[in-house]
Amino acid sequence: MLDVKEIRKDFPLLETKVRDKLPLVYLDNAATTQKPKCVIDALSDYYLRLNANVHRGVHWLSSQATDYFELARERVRDFINAPKTENIIFTRGTTESLNLLAETISISFLDEDSEVIISEMEHHSNIVPWHIAQKKHKFKLKYIPFNDKGELETEQLQNLITPKTKLLSLTHISNTLGTINPIKSIIELCHKNNVMVIIDGAQSIAHLSIDVQDLDCDFYVFSGHKVYAPMGIGVVYGKKELLEKMYPYHGGGEMIKEVSMTATTFNDIPYRFEAGTPSVADTIGLGVALEYLKKVGVQDVIAWEDHLMHYATERLQTIENIRIFGQSNNKSSCISFLVGNIHHFDLGTILDMQGVAIRTGHHCAQPVMQHYHIEGTDRLSFAMYNTEQEIDIFMTALQKAIAMLQ
Ligand code: ALA
Repeated sequence: MLDVKEIRKDFPLLETKVRDKLPLVYLDNAATTQKPKCVIDALSDYYLRLNANVHRGVHWLSSQATDYFELARERVRDFINAPKTENIIFTRGTTESLNLLAETISISFLDEDSEVIISEMEHHSNIVPWHIAQKKHKFKLKYIPFNDKGELETEQLQNLITPKTKLLSLTHISNTLGTINPIKSIIELCHKNNVMVIIDGAQSIAHLSIDVQDLDCDFYVFSGHKVYAPMGIGVVYGKKELLEKMYPYHGGGEMIKEVSMTATTFNDIPYRFEAGTPSVADTIGLGVALEYLKKVGVQDVIAWEDHLMHYATERLQTIENIRIFGQSNNKSSCISFLVGNIHHFDLGTILDMQGVAIRTGHHCAQPVMQHYHIEGTDRLSFAMYNTEQEIDIFMTALQKAIAMLQ
């Protein structure tokens, strides 16, 4: 098991006092995780010792920065077990990764006759880019529904797939319901029908062990900031044979082989998709964060977070008139709920007044809210550094809030 007391020492922000007086109980990790000191140090070390543009200069500093930048790519490759570093494209986050894929896949592989499938439990980042691309490229968009337990109706997928279906883009773990989708069997079914698969790993990268070769997904995307790395850095993993056929996303420096007044030829993968100066420090920070998580132990982190989720669920179930949204047996790391008629925002505000940080609202997943005919929920979400004691503090704060608001 994890030595959570020791781990907490690595995260200086956890000592922050809310409004300078209350101990912070941070249970909003699905929105963003706190950063260990080694990641914060890597950022300042880069600017103190290494700052130069990458892949451009012949000078020593630039080549040092490039080496560290490419080491981060290798660390990402290793963490998700991608075959090669050329499969790893750096972006600003999951949102940019999905926008990149929606645009480039549409240009490269889709036409008016094509069909794309997503699900009703997607984050807006895996819905809106498809709406935008659909406007230009006119393909048809279909949705896999989910049931009241918050589980995908996977048996419907076979009916949704037709000979026109080219792509499925699906979340691995719902950011609202916590459901872990059975992506391995879904990917298998899609491949039998010649359908490519994108997995949105925004919520799974920190809470499951990811092996893209074992999953056999065609693309896997995630953000650094949800896995203890800085904000502003994300990843697209893609299979080589697909990336090589795909048209670029952004144009600019670094992504070209040659430019004349009339034409451009494009660089090899992954650089073809990395126009402009990248966020070098954040990329290095991502590599350091993944090494840190590996050192702590991915399996131990998963087991601890699972324990916390079950402990919190049991305690929440003792609250009168509570509704928990997302009741799948295969669930991870977050709990969405409402109590009676109390508005999610009011509850979150009173918890905040007691130093407890949770997320309230629609969680950028309005179709999920529409399914349950609600506007939003309260959501707590866990990370490796959370404790049972924090859940106890949250429960006391929740009981006080309910007494005030009812
Ligand atoms: N997608 C993030 C969340 O679920 C911001 O909170």
